[in-house]
Amino acid sequence: MTAQIIDGRLVARKLRAEYAERVKALTAHGRAPGLAVILVGDSAASQVYVRNKVKACADIGIESRFIGLGAETTQATLLQTVDDLNADRAVDGILIQLPLPAHIDIRAVLERISVEKDVDGFHLYNVGGLVTGSTVFSPCTPYGVQKLLEHENIEVAGKNVVVVGASNIVGKPTALMLMSQDATVCICHKKTRDLAQFTLLADILVVAAGVPGLIVPQMVKTGAVVIDVGINRLPDGRIIGDVDFEGVRQKASYITPVPGGVGPMTVTMLLHNTLVSAERTLAAAGG
Ligand code: GUN
Repeated sequence: MTAQIIDGRLVARKLRAEYAERVKALTAHGRAPGLAVILVGDSAASQVYVRNKVKACADIGIESRFIGLGAETTQATLLQTVDDLNADRAVDGILIQLPLPAHIDIRAVLERISVEKDVDGFHLYNVGGLVTGSTVFSPCTPYGVQKLLEHENIEVAGKNVVVVGASNIVGKPTALMLMSQDATVCICHKKTRDLAQFTLLADILVVAAGVPGLIVPQMVKTGAVVIDVGINRLPDGRIIGDVDFEGVRQKASYITPVPGGVGPMTVTMLLHNTLVSAERTLAAAGG
């Protein structure tokens, strides 16, 4: 069996074209959606991510506001910045690029973001909402995974889903989202013994461990759907995922490549959430 490759760039392009139309409609009603992006410090990787987000906004007509703060910025200043953006009616979404410098209490800052503007879905209210199925916004990467499965008409209900990686940003929320769609979900992590005995059960295997080439063909059931969320930069500059792509594609039914799989979907879902936030604001104003 050779897997069908799920082209995340293609799906992202289709969705962004649809969102661009909705942005146009909103703008015609008076105001473009607005996203504020806060970056504290000068991490090169974070700068690349933030640049991508700002450009993606511009491409579909969302107005982004970049707020670059020095690495020595105090927590009080950052909280004040969030307060100002919460009160700013031109801002529909607030994103604080993570990680933050060590002297800042990340949770305190994320909890300060108004839930209605928490387009990253990192506020505790939205995290808790994943358990009860009542988020205001879903976190972008897990939401992107869900959209890819939907696009390929891959049924989730009743399937065995194994998530490798238990991070707050990807593993745990992905598991909760797929469980709420009636999948039987197992989360594996660094201390899981004999990872293969779990991954071999997966009808849908989601890998977000940050370990290049962790998943090899012997760990995958024939016909499984394999979603690779890993983004690993090798010393020679190449970007690879957590899955041995060439090997596993001979065994899976569907597989996402890296790059070009889940990655483009994360930013797409950020655009989606910002757009939805603006649409809700307009609806609440009776527009
Ligand atoms: N750092 C790594 N991934 C993310 C993300 O999805 N959102 C934010 N804000 N920071 C990140």
